[in-house]
Amino acid sequence: MLKKINVKDIKAGMYLHDICGSWMEHPFWKKSFLLDEPKDIHTLKTCGVDEIWIDTDKGLDVADGAVTQSTEQSSQHIHETLIEAVKQPVAEVRPVSLHEEIEQARKIHTRAKEAVTSMFQEARMGRAIQAEEVGSLVEDISQSIDRNPEAFLSLSRLKTKDNYTYLHSVAVCGLMIALGKQMRLSPSVYKDLGMAGLLHDVGKMAIPDEVLNKPGRLTDEEFAIVQSHPLRGWEILSKSSGVPDIALDVCLHHHEKMDGKGYPDKVQGEAISLFARMGAVCDVYDAITSTRCYKPGWEPVESIRKMAEWQEGHFDRDVFHAFVKTIGIFPAGTLVRLKSTRLAIVLEQSASSLVTPIVKVFFSTKANSPINPEIIDLSQTIDSIVNAEDPQKWGFDMKVLFGI
Ligand SMILES: [Fe+2]
Ligand SMILES: [Fe+2]
Repeated sequence: MLKKINVKDIKAGMYLHDICGSWMEHPFWKKSFLLDEPKDIHTLKTCGVDEIWIDTDKGLDVADGAVTQSTEQSSQHIHETLIEAVKQPVAEVRPVSLHEEIEQARKIHTRAKEAVTSMFQEARMGRAIQAEEVGSLVEDISQSIDRNPEAFLSLSRLKTKDNYTYLHSVAVCGLMIALGKQMRLSPSVYKDLGMAGLLHDVGKMAIPDEVLNKPGRLTDEEFAIVQSHPLRGWEILSKSSGVPDIALDVCLHHHEKMDGKGYPDKVQGEAISLFARMGAVCDVYDAITSTRCYKPGWEPVESIRKMAEWQEGHFDRDVFHAFVKTIGIFPAGTLVRLKSTRLAIVLEQSASSLVTPIVKVFFSTKANSPINPEIIDLSQTIDSIVNAEDPQKWGFDMKVLFGI
């Protein structure tokens, strides 16, 4: 039986099923193993993660009286958190469809990838970077997101192992701008938010590749090196030109947590700037949806649910709620099963409700065969989403289906 427990109740002989936190927060390679090493137990209790899942069929149970949560209770809690988050969806105006924006977004995305790659290579060689050179590019990204956020954000999910850091930076740039718009922040900060996203991980250029991409458990020393990237980045940006203050702040503090268990300064609550709190949410979302050399990425729908599970103590509640509205409960690219037994892919969010996105139906589960694709706005029909489905289970390549 799976039980979610607090890390303070961990003891030797338990079987660790999963860690409630993104894989940037702990040095473990595998997430499921028998907890028999005192060193692993100590690391779990001190790495900043609050809870873990244990499997009581494979190892010891928790002591009587300890607070635990079952999978059903956890699912219910996630559901309530997400419903609370989207209680008052912000009606968004999307002047153009995803289809109309995708080609332009693709061109901007390619330029962004090239610009970040060359800027980061300067940093890798220890040279100062000229951040002002990407100012107009960030404005183009912001305008593409104004026209249709799903176009740029869906392209941002496509990464390969080799270009992860560059494309992660481009993705966090887009997410920061989209989140800032969802939060109705002053348009004067959008460009700085985008720059902050582009530059937040520049410190990784000061970390040796073999440590950054090690496909195995990191030693304490290696983990400390990885965790030095916010400070290393801040040092690079401090001596560079054209870097807004927001970008310096987000770079240094995007791994801080609301409960003060983050790094490097263990800042707590509102002592972490709003922009750094936004950076933390965007960063984790993109990291866990991305496939890394040591880990396949999660689907957006699964990622939002995981983040809802971990959000207390980690994320700012209001920022997380705004983020859920930005991405949607059924984000673009999600495979969903409809009441009509058809399978569909989510194309974009609808302005009226996040549970009724615009979808493309393409498969009948009854006939177990493809059907003529049809685009449906679920806010305008009686059909509705029953649940999200795992594309792997059905053998679908969602990128092909999504047409990007
Ligand atoms: Fe980072
Ligand atoms: Fe990051």
